This record gives sequence, structure tokens and C-alpha cells, in this order.
Amino acid sequence: MEFLDRFVKETQRMHSPSFQTARNARKDVVLPGGYLVPARAVVIPCFPSLHKNPAQWENPARFEPDRWADKAVAGKAMRNGLYTPFASGGRGCVGFNLALMEIKMVLAELVYHYRFEDASTEAVVYDPEFLVVRPLNFYATPTKRTEWPSASKGGTKKKEEEEVHGVEGGLDDASR
Ligand code: HEM
Repeated sequence: MEFLDRFVKETQRMHSPSFQTARNARKDVVLPGGYLVPARAVVIPCFPSLHKNPAQWENPARFEPDRWADKAVAGKAMRNGLYTPFASGGRGCVGFNLALMEIKMVLAELVYHYRFEDASTEAVVYDPEFLVVRPLNFYATPTKRTEWPSASKGGTKKKEEEEVHGVEGGLDDASR
């Protein structure tokens, strides 16, 4: 579950479906670098630019779920607004907890039952007219799993418990 959490975080860093938000400046602000944002200006931060800023992320173009294992990395990203797939502040996403729960539940079920292979024949093109980021030509071939890798350490413990308590359906149960 820890890896799933990191995997989802990293997917949202690199391929967040949300692209930008918009906020109104309440008063004149001078940003680092000397940029004046006048009062009432609409500010539109671009999430991919924040999420892949080479000044803030190590190897930003690399898909690396384990970068989130470092609590300092995660803390800095949250504190400094470097990672905002659900925006933030008073108008941030109210459904983010539900969304994360749904994503993890569906992903775990899909990966448990199918093996996926990239079946795209060309570089992915994103829909320029859609509100959120949506690939137009991304294809994957699912193959139903008939065997599973051996259980991880945690999984073995669970299986042992299941055997002790007579519960059917461990990780090696191909009937699911
Ligand atoms: C991966 C899934 C989701 C992503 C990436 C996402 C992203 C966002 C973002 C970036 C905003 C801020 C928009 C802005 O400031 O302009 C937002 C707002 C919002 N989201 Fe989500 N969202 C997701 C799922 C959900 C779900 C599942 C719900 C409800 C069940 C939800 C409900 C809302 C609502 C009501 C707002 C408006 C909040 C406000 O304006 O006060 N979202 N979302």
C-alpha cells in the first residue's frame, strides 16, 4: 500500500489530469524576480511547470515513485506549493480524499486482475480543447492474469493468518 501511495503521487506529479487553477490577486504583489502582480489580476499557475521545475525537483522528467519515500521531499513539496494536483487553499479540491481512495481501489483491482502492456504506436497527443488533461491516442492491452508473483513479506503474514483462520482467497488464488 505504501508503494501504491507513492505511485499515485508520482503519477499525479507527472501526469496530473488537472492543469491549472486561477486566482485573483487581492493587492499588488511583487514576486521574487521582480514581477509585479497588480491587484485584481488573474493569476493562472500552470501545474506541470510547478511539478517538473528542475530547480526544485531532482530528475523531474523521471518517473520515480520512491522519491516520495523521503519525507523531507514530500514535506517540502507540500509546504512550498511545488505539488498541487488538487490545487490548494480555500478553493482547492473538496473531493481529494474521495478521489485518492477511488484511484487506489480501482488501480489495485485492475492490476490484480490484469497485466497491462503499452499498445500505443506513436507519441501521446493530448486533447488541446478539453478542460483537463486527456490523452487522445493512448492505448493499453490488458491480459487477464492467471498467475501472480509470490506474496510480499506483509502478504505472506496475511496469508498465514488466513490459513490459520480458514479464510479462502489469498494472493495465489487464481479464481478471483
Ligand atoms: C483525480 C481527481 C481530481 C482532481 C485531479 C481534482 C482537481 C481539482 C482541482 C485542481 C480543483 C481546483 C480548481 C480551481 O481552483 O480552479 C478542484 C476543485 C474541486 N473539486 Fe476536484 N479533483 C478531483 C476529484 C474530485 C472529486 C472526486 C470531487 C467530488 C466528489 C471533486 C470536487 C471538487 C469541487 C466541488 C471543487 C471546487 C471547490 C471550490 O471551488 O471551492 N473533485 N478539483
